[in-house]
Amino acid sequence: MHFSPHAQHAAPRSPIRGPALPIGVAVTALGMMLSIASVPVAPPAADTMPVPVAVMQVPPVKVGATTAVDPCADPAVQQAIANGDDAATVAAFGGGVRFREAVVAGNAPCISLTDPARVWVVVNKSLPLNPADYEPAALDSVPLQMTTPSGRVRLDVAAAVGAMAEASVAAGAGRIGANNGYRSYGLQVSTYDTHVRTQGQADADAGSARPGHSEHQTGLALDVVACGASCGGLDGFGGTGQSDWIAAHAWEYGFIVRYEQIGTPVTGYAPEPWHLRYVGVDLAAAYHDGGFHTLEEFFGLPAAPDYPH
Ligand code: DAL
Ligand code: ZN
Repeated sequence: MHFSPHAQHAAPRSPIRGPALPIGVAVTALGMMLSIASVPVAPPAADTMPVPVAVMQVPPVKVGATTAVDPCADPAVQQAIANGDDAATVAAFGGGVRFREAVVAGNAPCISLTDPARVWVVVNKSLPLNPADYEPAALDSVPLQMTTPSGRVRLDVAAAVGAMAEASVAAGAGRIGANNGYRSYGLQVSTYDTHVRTQGQADADAGSARPGHSEHQTGLALDVVACGASCGGLDGFGGTGQSDWIAAHAWEYGFIVRYEQIGTPVTGYAPEPWHLRYVGVDLAAAYHDGGFHTLEEFFGLPAAPDYPH
């Protein structure tokens, strides 16, 4: 299966520390500019015309994409959702930035952030999988050297990670292998229990999701490792050439590093530079370009550092 990385995307901007301007502030600023602009006053001379900074920051709209006030009423959006085509749905919204903006503004009731079959699903300590024993419709083998038998992910994720691993080698960053891909509810029970037994509950909750709360159960997540003649483990991944390359380039293949150190107060997890979550190239580009570090902030959701009970 051919996989195209996010080819048409502009060169990455310099790294941004912390999330982008909060959406409420951006919308308010833009709204103020627009309302000011609608007041009928004589325009300034061209050479004194102020530069409309906020307007310049509005992302370009792809040709044919919706700018609808009600994107869920757009036939292209409805068709893409009916087809279960996540990439087409995001594109029909006008791309990842506009998709995010519509969701954050509460203007996308046709988009469920808790549908475990969608690339935009959010799974965290406050948002368990529904149903708790959800199983993906189809899984494929991870096309990388595996260090455990849990070597399957969703088909779209398998294609993307294969392309990403080839690019890492081509860039001279080294070979990437994988530890766990999909974990069933039952496997998460034993994984979490092992952490509790060996580390105690608090440390277990900082490093392993409770059953029904793991992205691994969606088939959209996998843990990668650095390989030379043989492959290393998870704890040895941070600081490798592969880890640095993934932190900089995974978004080009539709992945985000889900648990960064800066995101710990939001996610409740210690840093996991190895845990990649597939969201598709359009949303990953919006996440990267916006300077986001957690999916919760990206979609305007509350922090979820603890389990509700
Ligand atoms: N290690 C991550 C948080 C999981 O168990 O899903
Ligand atoms: Zn993981």
